[in-house]
Amino acid sequence: MNNKGQSLYRKAKLRIPGGTQLFSKRPDLFLPEQWPSYYSKAKGVDVWDLDGNKYIDMSYMGLGACILGYADSDVDNAAKAAIKSGSMCTLNCPEEVELADLLCELHPWADMVRFARTGGEAIAIAVRIARARTKKDKIIFCGYHGWHDWYLAANLGEVDVLDGHLIPGLKPAGVPRALKNTAFAFHYNKINELKTIVSSNKGEIAAILMEPVRNYEPELGFLEEVRRIATDIKAVLIFDEVSSGWRLTAGGAHLLYRVTPDIAVFAKAMSNGYPMAAIIGIADVMGAAQDSFISSTYWTERIGPTAALSTIRKHKRNNVPEHLIKMGKRVQSEWKSAAEHHGLRISISGIPPLGHFSFDYENGQAIRTLFTQEMLHKGFLATDSFYASYAHQNYHIESYSRAVDETFAFIAKAIEGNKINKLLKGPVAHSGFHRLA
Ligand SMILES: Cc1ncc(COP(=O)(O)O)c(C=O)c1O
Repeated sequence: MNNKGQSLYRKAKLRIPGGTQLFSKRPDLFLPEQWPSYYSKAKGVDVWDLDGNKYIDMSYMGLGACILGYADSDVDNAAKAAIKSGSMCTLNCPEEVELADLLCELHPWADMVRFARTGGEAIAIAVRIARARTKKDKIIFCGYHGWHDWYLAANLGEVDVLDGHLIPGLKPAGVPRALKNTAFAFHYNKINELKTIVSSNKGEIAAILMEPVRNYEPELGFLEEVRRIATDIKAVLIFDEVSSGWRLTAGGAHLLYRVTPDIAVFAKAMSNGYPMAAIIGIADVMGAAQDSFISSTYWTERIGPTAALSTIRKHKRNNVPEHLIKMGKRVQSEWKSAAEHHGLRISISGIPPLGHFSFDYENGQAIRTLFTQEMLHKGFLATDSFYASYAHQNYHIESYSRAVDETFAFIAKAIEGNKINKLLKGPVAHSGFHRLA
């Protein structure tokens, strides 16, 4: 098969350690030796690879960044205007003050805002502010929060604590061993795990950090109890809304659960494909950002805040979450009915706009690879997750559902005939973080 993307990826692996800048875009995680890997153009939900093949993206939509769809005309026009009037200057851009106001309007509990450009760095800033405010060092967290030292420090112990928090196998190579016992993980909805960590680190916890929701709904009273504990131990409660934000409502998902953090962090979807991130919080905590040195040149450029203002306004105007929930629910129900129809065992999780399924078989990863392979041949970028965007329309879901149904039928037969590996035209997809060979 003609695959310029694979040739380029082979070259990239020699020139760029790890091949890609974002682990989750590693082609080997999808379909080794076959994944198109690079795009020449993306618009709406359509993606063109380097060979000119066109696909419909029914997977991650830029890893959750493009909530309105690729190359959204409104956001792009706003960004172009920002470029035309100078994207960078010795003076500051006024859009950042406008955006800070808008974010506080949407989150009436918040008083102040700092900006960054990526999710992981914004979370690292929130952690720094919490440590500066409380004058304590230790962080308790649940879930995935990026690549920075404070987070990977959790794996400096004897066991791989971070397994089970989205990306397994994260190695703390390069993280100072002195950070051992500064970050502790608990599992979502497991309030007793949190309580145990709190009681063995009395007076030392600077922050409790978590996504308000992701794979599962909070159990009754769970978020409220986390809030109570944070207040009780004088720790800063940080909600990571890097992925959950803007999916269920205009702003953080926490608005729906009526539990108020001290800090919330946004990135990804807030600016539809242009780098932007925000740390919003109560004045009492955010004020500590003045005591610590938190400063970077490109946090001041103009395109990010301009794109964010345009994205958020369009998001509000068009009630985007309603559309995302509708599309996401449809896809989850198509997975379920196709699996039932063909007798496949799958488990479905995730809030509707960030849906996920897994094949419940010993060779589930090989089956998932075959699913991606067959869906690619039918014209879809597809894996075990569907991140809904405003550009997904009913007709996309309909053609995707027909393809899923056919592919599940094919897979069911292959399982019955014990032929999954035989039908794969390349290796099984990788899972978890590890060094490329
Ligand atoms: C919940 C959460 N926090 C933080 C991050 C890190 O964001 P970024 O990849 O922009 O650094 C991610 C990325 O997937 C995320 O899902």
